[in-house]
Amino acid sequence: ELPDSVTIWEVGPRDGLQNESSIVDVAVKLEFIDRLARAGLSIVESTSFVHPKWVPQLADAEELLAGLSPAAGVRYPVLVPNERGLERAIRAGVADIAIFGSATRSFAERNLNSDLDAQFEMFAPVVAGAREAGMTVRAYISMAFGDPWEGPVDPAQVVSVGNRLLELGCTQLSIGDTIGVATAGHVEQLLDGFRAAGTGMDALAVHFHDTYGQALANTFAALRCGVRTVDSSAGGLGGCPYAESATGNLATEDLVWLLDGLGVRHGVDLDLLADASVWLAERLGRPSPSRVVRALRD
Ligand code: HMG
Ligand code: MG
Repeated sequence: ELPDSVTIWEVGPRDGLQNESSIVDVAVKLEFIDRLARAGLSIVESTSFVHPKWVPQLADAEELLAGLSPAAGVRYPVLVPNERGLERAIRAGVADIAIFGSATRSFAERNLNSDLDAQFEMFAPVVAGAREAGMTVRAYISMAFGDPWEGPVDPAQVVSVGNRLLELGCTQLSIGDTIGVATAGHVEQLLDGFRAAGTGMDALAVHFHDTYGQALANTFAALRCGVRTVDSSAGGLGGCPYAESATGNLATEDLVWLLDGLGVRHGVDLDLLADASVWLAERLGRPSPSRVVRALRD
């Protein structure tokens, strides 16, 4: 019933750090990324080519990628919202990008300065151009369960927005519980909705936040539905600068602990990973919120 193996899509350096108010030195970011790759993570989302005024923490995207020494077999995807971002990614020699759509109008306005329909017009040339350039393109769908301004989000609307993103030519859809309000039954309901609309679980990833302590239960529900790619953030770093109630992402250490217990392969060395998170936490000046990191290291 459970998959034999799961791909962990590490988002700490991007989704985790984007929310830090004091700017982290590019050398620290680079060492963090290296440590994550050495811990066995095969996908490390590294930065965003967004407007530097919107996310000042990631204004160093060009410098970061120029300084990165890619490890063999590791991919370093970056976020790209629009054609300007794609130009920057192409110039930086990026192989994998992610666009980020919203399931709700409120968040499309706040996060993208766009709206529910206009976001697709912004993304269409990005996906087409990226595929032409040989890149893979993931699509995030934010606020897939609840939205701070609109409340619970209708699964039918999420399936519709998600399928429109896939139809643009994206290779994978990451379903995001940006504010962490989902519960396991809601996850099953939404995944059933995608399945009923003809989207296979292989095309999907899940992205949970631990605001209400449900991220692992939600992950387990998604695994049982057949999802095999799970997003998480080392040490539980992060939130989202344009969604006030968004707290930490699911911690990669917590995910690894769950997968180890289930006998699901993932390729990550938990000890090296916890070292990386503790190392970064020392630089940020506050402890990791991950329960597993604390249990292993305190
Ligand atoms: P805008 O202001 O509407 O952009 O922002 P515009 O197209 O009107 O352009 C205005 C100016 O910005 C122009 O410069 C552009 O060149 C420049 P000017 O001509 O005035 O000198 N510009 C750019 N510069 C650099 N890079 C770019 C870029 N684009 C335009 N890419 C925009 C629209 C989408 C750019 C803006 O809203 C933005 O950057 N948003 C990003 C917000 C963000 O990064 N949010 C966090 C990620 S989403 C998230 O965290 C959720 C997720 O993790 C899932 C989950 O957790 O659930 C994915
Ligand atoms: Mg997130």
